[in-house]
Amino acid sequence: MRVGILTGGGDCPGLNAVIRAVVRRGIDGHGHAIVGFRDGWRGPLERDCEKLTIESTRGILPRGGTILRSSRTNPLGREGGADRVRENMAALELDGLIAVGGEDTLGAASKLYEAGLPVLGVPKTIDNDLGGTDVTFGFDTAVHVATEAIDRLHTTAESHNRILIVEVMGRHAGWIALHSGIAGGADVILIPERPFDIDEVCRLLRRRHERGRFFSIVVVAEGAVPLAGTMETVAGEPDEFGHERLGGVGQRLEREVASRTGFEARATVLGHVQRGGTPTAYDRVLATRLGLAAIDAADAGRWGTMPALRSTRIELVPLAEAVRELRLVPDEDYAEAEAFFG
Ligand code: F6P
Repeated sequence: MRVGILTGGGDCPGLNAVIRAVVRRGIDGHGHAIVGFRDGWRGPLERDCEKLTIESTRGILPRGGTILRSSRTNPLGREGGADRVRENMAALELDGLIAVGGEDTLGAASKLYEAGLPVLGVPKTIDNDLGGTDVTFGFDTAVHVATEAIDRLHTTAESHNRILIVEVMGRHAGWIALHSGIAGGADVILIPERPFDIDEVCRLLRRRHERGRFFSIVVVAEGAVPLAGTMETVAGEPDEFGHERLGGVGQRLEREVASRTGFEARATVLGHVQRGGTPTAYDRVLATRLGLAAIDAADAGRWGTMPALRSTRIELVPLAEAVRELRLVPDEDYAEAEAFFG
């Protein structure tokens, strides 16, 4: 068998562990040939690929990023995209393709499968918002990075009697903000699922200061939005999947909080630091298990599926189920964090 693999969307610590597991089990365990496509869906669209071997994938387990590189190319947004992928797979004599990605990359994979292409998916995103699986790899690393940053910001916030606002990633879901905020002891956490009331944010901060504290930490997900009409918002440029480029809510909060409360405020945007660098041990193990399950599924012809973490086991779920709806933060999880606000 000949199997292709691509990594699409925002990169994520653990992608190389998936590639390594697919190659190792694919070649040693099943006797397959593995072809790596470059730059996400651009690779199959333009037949840009390389043969992956056990030797060429040695030493990549602890490496962040992806040796295949990534892009936000949408194959279905291109003229004749599905046919080009089909023709290029046929020209390369591929029996199937493993797409490693988040909602957009796997959304495209699911549609290509429905159009008759032998494709299966592997879930990845630091945002942890993909359906069908309990957790995605990359999330644990991002939470570790953000928590360490919050710990560091605590001491400087305290020294200067300041409110420090930490903007973390999370477009539709506030998992990174919630978990790093709880782990870092944040005084307010704002997430996309719950449009925030700026008056309430300021009330909580004032109350904390009235109770004898002189500094506060606010963790805000980049996708958090104020209640309609309560604060200025700015729209960014859309990408090929129609997602607007985010960033800036931290700075706007800095201005609002400072002017409404009179406390000195500063914003820190963590940005891509959360996605870069070596994956945690948890993410390496999860990514490895998913890679092994993906190549086993390919070997068994289980196209249209996705290996997913369900409790502690890896199970195959339909790809369509995984991309049907995002996994958002439930109210009860947010309530656990709220107990520590203000
Ligand atoms: O892949 C998820 C993510 O990291 C989001 O949290 C964030 O909104 C987005 O990617 C940023 O994308 P880019 O690196 O393309 O600006």
